[in-house]
Amino acid sequence: MSKNYTSLISELREKLKKCSSLHDIANIKSFYLGKNGIVSIEFNELKNASIDEKKELGKSLNILKNQVQELISLKLSQAQETKDVDYPIDVTLPGKNISSGSRHPISITINQITSILGKYGFTSVSGIEIEDEFHNFEALNIPDTHPARDMHDTFYVSDNKLLRTHTSSVQIRSMLSNKAPLKIMTPGKVYRCDSDPTHSPMFHQIEGLCIDKDINFCHLKGVLTNFITEFFGRDMEIRFRPSYFPFTEPSAELDIKFRGKWLEVLGCGMVHPNVLTNVKINFKNFSGFAFGLGIERLAMLKYDIVDLRMFYENDISFLSQFKGLK
Ligand code: DAH
Repeated sequence: MSKNYTSLISELREKLKKCSSLHDIANIKSFYLGKNGIVSIEFNELKNASIDEKKELGKSLNILKNQVQELISLKLSQAQETKDVDYPIDVTLPGKNISSGSRHPISITINQITSILGKYGFTSVSGIEIEDEFHNFEALNIPDTHPARDMHDTFYVSDNKLLRTHTSSVQIRSMLSNKAPLKIMTPGKVYRCDSDPTHSPMFHQIEGLCIDKDINFCHLKGVLTNFITEFFGRDMEIRFRPSYFPFTEPSAELDIKFRGKWLEVLGCGMVHPNVLTNVKINFKNFSGFAFGLGIERLAMLKYDIVDLRMFYENDISFLSQFKGLK
């Protein structure tokens, strides 16, 4: 060897001894064997050597290069082995959970209600959310002077356009386009200028309407009593309390006893003759009953939810409790 590379090799050995990470070894590799690495610099010396010297020098440089390569690849394979030992694949670990979504409790409640009413022969229809005064108020026998028609209670879009305040407007649309007899239910969103822990400016209702010959209050009572039992899955204490709605006569509210208290769950009654006249159904030939219930209200009672706002906060821990329900 015309040049002594012993110190270079022992220096490399020292460096390799001190490092263990693959990253550090890769750095050492490029320091020695890279394009501008130490070994390449040594090879550059060849240019200045005489022909005789070149032969000798070339030989020892090749030996040096091989030695450096060998030491580094040995270290690399050792490091690779320990890495596998440090991070073995544990086949007994549980896999990563892929979480699936769940139906929203309001959708679940709508499905439950419509499947019960569907069995009683009610057909589901949908209405529109931007209504006019005729379908939302006038045809339902709600006079101009009624407080619900006030700007403070109703979201008006323009003079004659408003966000429907109840699903009762669909009664009118259905009776006008289908005539009697008919038996429909219509779930959907409704809007009112109201916002506190028990009221939201948007909430959901479902309306039921049955028009046929000789329909009386007993039919209404029978349908709603059975409905409540099926919905809650047990006999509930209920009462029909006389009430007032402009579109029904007589009118009632249905209360259920919950934890010792009477709670109002829906409004109902026999369709007012004026309403039938407004949709050109002769009240001497046909009669009917109607009801409208708040979906959030029923869901809160069934699932023991205390704050209405939880339905709209999109909190996964709340929503995931309904997993599996349809
Ligand atoms: N539309 C009423 C409301 O939003 C609820 C209602 C009461 C609907 C009596 C009806 C009914 O169909 O007959 O408060």
